[in-house]
Amino acid sequence: MQARPGLTPAAAAAAIENPGPVPAALLSADRVVKRFGGVAAVDGVSFSLARGEILGLIGPNGAGKTTLFDCLAGSQAPTSGRILLDGRPIERLPAHRRLAAGLGRTFQIPRPFPQMTLLENVLLGCQHLAGERILPNWLSPGAVARAEREARDKAMALLDFVALAKLAHQPARVLSGGQRKLLELARVLMAEPALILLDEPAAGVNPSLLETIIERIAELNRRGTTILLIEHNMDLVSRLCGRVLVLASGRLLTEGPPAEVARDRRVIEAYLGGAAA
Ligand SMILES: Nc1ncnc2c1ncn2[C@@H]1O[C@H](COP(=O)(O)OP(=O)(O)O)[C@@H](O)[C@H]1O
Ligand SMILES: [Mg+2]
Repeated sequence: MQARPGLTPAAAAAAIENPGPVPAALLSADRVVKRFGGVAAVDGVSFSLARGEILGLIGPNGAGKTTLFDCLAGSQAPTSGRILLDGRPIERLPAHRRLAAGLGRTFQIPRPFPQMTLLENVLLGCQHLAGERILPNWLSPGAVARAEREARDKAMALLDFVALAKLAHQPARVLSGGQRKLLELARVLMAEPALILLDEPAAGVNPSLLETIIERIAELNRRGTTILLIEHNMDLVSRLCGRVLVLASGRLLTEGPPAEVARDRRVIEAYLGGAAA
């Protein structure tokens, strides 16, 4: 093995023998419960997600996947349980504070503002633009104009990233379902989250756009973004995820590599039960 640059041979040998602590989880959930009346939609779910991982979350309809995302991202408060982002408890923070802390999410059914252009929709993902506050406009209009220009440039670059740059000045209502998913991804990326939760990124997407979506998710991950995704499309799941969690009736049934989990009898039964329900 070659010595690492910048280390003495002795230090390099020590580093190899003692690689240091295992990197802490970026996100962890500890016994998260969400009840609606008497029904526990999420019933004591614990898992952790390593920095840099793409983790899949699968399970039949009604299993509680979206509700778990709601609890993780802050659109619902969990009834009980703990959620740590980078070691800090976040379960009581509102969604915008979680986004500011680096946790972004997309929705199962994206709802862009239909009359606004794609560019305007993406700019909505921008956190606290100075021009939205009154005082900086008086004190430093030049800095405000610069920040707005930078935000527009960034939004355009993200529209390019999701292959929608050509439609930047069209109203969002012209988009197909799949394109709306990509627009939403661009909006969330404005905040540069370290972790993104994607709720069924491929549902209702035509096959050519599906390739774009898979490729863009892989590229995001190569650039360092950690990803947790809900998806029924097992082709997407097995191509992107090293590991999947299976949720059924609010509980984690099992976890493992996609190919193994897909063969698991309990998983097959859960899906058959879900289909019959
Ligand atoms: N706001 C809500 N009020 C009452 N019940 C809900 C609410 N949201 C979800 N549920 C119920 O929780 C269960 C899980 O739903 P959901 O999280 O959407 O499942 P999935 O995303 O796995 O299909 C379902 O039985 C659903 O009807
Ligand atoms: Mg759902």
